[in-house]
Amino acid sequence: MLMTPARDPGSHSRHAQLPPRSPERFASPSGVTTPKGQVVHTADGRELVIRSIEPGDITAMQRCFKRLSPQDVRRRFMHAMSELPAPMAQRLCRIDPAMEAAFVLMDETVKPAELRGVGRIFVDEASNTAEFSVLVEREWTRIGLGALLMQQLVDESRRRGLSELWGYVLMENRPMLQLCKELGFVANMLPGEAGTAQISLAL
Ligand SMILES: CC(C)(COP(=O)(O)OP(=O)(O)OC[C@H]1O[C@@H](n2cnc3c(N)ncnc32)[C@H](O)[C@@H]1OP(=O)(O)O)[C@@H](O)C(=O)NCCC(=O)NCCS
Repeated sequence: MLMTPARDPGSHSRHAQLPPRSPERFASPSGVTTPKGQVVHTADGRELVIRSIEPGDITAMQRCFKRLSPQDVRRRFMHAMSELPAPMAQRLCRIDPAMEAAFVLMDETVKPAELRGVGRIFVDEASNTAEFSVLVEREWTRIGLGALLMQQLVDESRRRGLSELWGYVLMENRPMLQLCKELGFVANMLPGEAGTAQISLAL
């Protein structure tokens, strides 16, 4: 997640609403809640649990990071990183609920449970907006989990009364740009940063 504050949010293009949710398009929470979180069934029959991130997720997050390709790391963190330093993992898991929200997709079918995806927002109070980031482990992509996490972030941002959800996406990151386009976000080029777009959704 980028920790930079929102940049000139007033200059973003605006867009109305997310398209309606479709069970074919989104991996959907089953409505079943267990002590571990809400059960999610993917279209190809796999099962995960979605819940808020917890301090106890640090080691699972570090294991997840080790499974990422250099390309996924660069797309998520916007630069290369060979490892996820422990202080950063701690910081990402011990969130300040007033300023952040993060949802994890946990695979409870394996022991220890593994983190397959995470989406988070970081609120910028001054602009009443939030910056998002999202990540789905490669073997779990293309089954609606990225869309599900993004929808959670939109819902959470609306619950907090924020006016806009936005994030940075590398221009070469076609999957994320396509996903955001499908979800109704609009992309704007960042002046002076040719390889990066700022995408945003008015809430
Ligand atoms: C981008 C990312 C979150 C997408 O997650 P996902 O779980 O595959 O997303 P979904 O399955 O919900 O939706 C995928 C949609 O996005 C687009 N998409 C996803 N992967 C794609 C790919 N490899 N090529 C083209 N489009 C792709 C498609 O429109 C796709 O819909 P479809 O499967 O119906 O065609 C995931 O690839 C990822 O974590 N990438 C690395 C980190 C990253 O780029 N984060 C974004 C910056 S914060």
